[in-house]
Amino acid sequence: MSTFLRTTELSTKGARTLERADYVSAGVFAAEHERIFAREWLCVGREDMIAGPGQYVLFEVGPDNLIVVRDRSGTVRALHNTCRHRGTRLCDAPCGELSETIQCPYHAWTYGLDGRLLGVPDAKEMEDFDKADYPLKQAAVALWEGFVFVNLAEEPEPFAEAYAPLISRFGRWNLGALRAARRIDYDVQANWKILFQNYSECYHCSPVHPTLVKLSPPTSGENDLTDGPFLGGFMTVTTPGGSLSVSGRACGVPVADLPEEDLQRVYYYTVFPNMLLSLHPDYVMVHTFQPVAPDRTRITCEFLFHPATLGRADLDPDDGVGFWDQVNREDWDLCERTQRGVRSTAYEPGPYSRRESLCAAFDRHYRQVMQARA
Ligand code: FES
Ligand SMILES: [Fe+2]
Repeated sequence: MSTFLRTTELSTKGARTLERADYVSAGVFAAEHERIFAREWLCVGREDMIAGPGQYVLFEVGPDNLIVVRDRSGTVRALHNTCRHRGTRLCDAPCGELSETIQCPYHAWTYGLDGRLLGVPDAKEMEDFDKADYPLKQAAVALWEGFVFVNLAEEPEPFAEAYAPLISRFGRWNLGALRAARRIDYDVQANWKILFQNYSECYHCSPVHPTLVKLSPPTSGENDLTDGPFLGGFMTVTTPGGSLSVSGRACGVPVADLPEEDLQRVYYYTVFPNMLLSLHPDYVMVHTFQPVAPDRTRITCEFLFHPATLGRADLDPDDGVGFWDQVNREDWDLCERTQRGVRSTAYEPGPYSRRESLCAAFDRHYRQVMQARA
């Protein structure tokens, strides 16, 4: 059984926000790639985005770009989008369906969807050359509850070990059986950590999110994960049987056979370093981040529903999707403002409130990882 502590029960004495360089420096961004993004498991999104052979999505993380594709045998692969000849980017469209092969637009080297190099024009002119030596490089792939994760490390920590605290925690939401009803992509001019910090507190909710505070008291936060890579807990929904939606009513059948108390809670978790998981009684919202520059993060937001919701005329997933699209945009606007503000040479780390105790916990984990792997 989890123990929950109110957000303000955790001390933030002495805790201050990160340094300016942590948000704006290309050097820090490069170090984060090496120490965090090239080592941790990263969530790409739902497996049903690439349900059929040849279907793929691109996943960008700092300098690296992966073609996450289902090959002919049904295996999900994460192929580096970099030709083994002279390095050219192979594939541009953010998602789509590949034929049997991937052909480089430069000199037409051709690869199978499993990454093998199959064809090289005028191969006899290549000296001391064996095609078997030049497959596309690949990242590791893990599948969990309908999500696709990738890991760029040569020898990644096994997914089941890295995610043990989450794997045991989320069983009752039946995530693997849910279906993505909507997906929205955002391109936000803010550092990825500013987005994590924003999600980790509701101190800003009253001034920024009038529609949210009407449905869920902004001080109702209680957390069971307060240290380490996974952080969060729940907030309550004011009206029994309600949810977070434009109408305030549920917009789907319950996602699973949840215990009574969970029907009036929304659970919010940050999953270091690129995923936010928001579990409502009637749908699950998932944010995945692709940090592309110190001041730019691509965000994909997916909304998962019980399959029974999707065929029902009386239930409208857009009621929930529209609610969060507005709240998300309110958040991105503030995050972009914060990015512009912290760019100033006048910025210096400021003090956290106890209502921001999870921001302080996020920063603590970030600092610890950056220092330990320096
Ligand atoms: S760079 Fe790809 S075939 Fe030459
Ligand atoms: Fe917010």
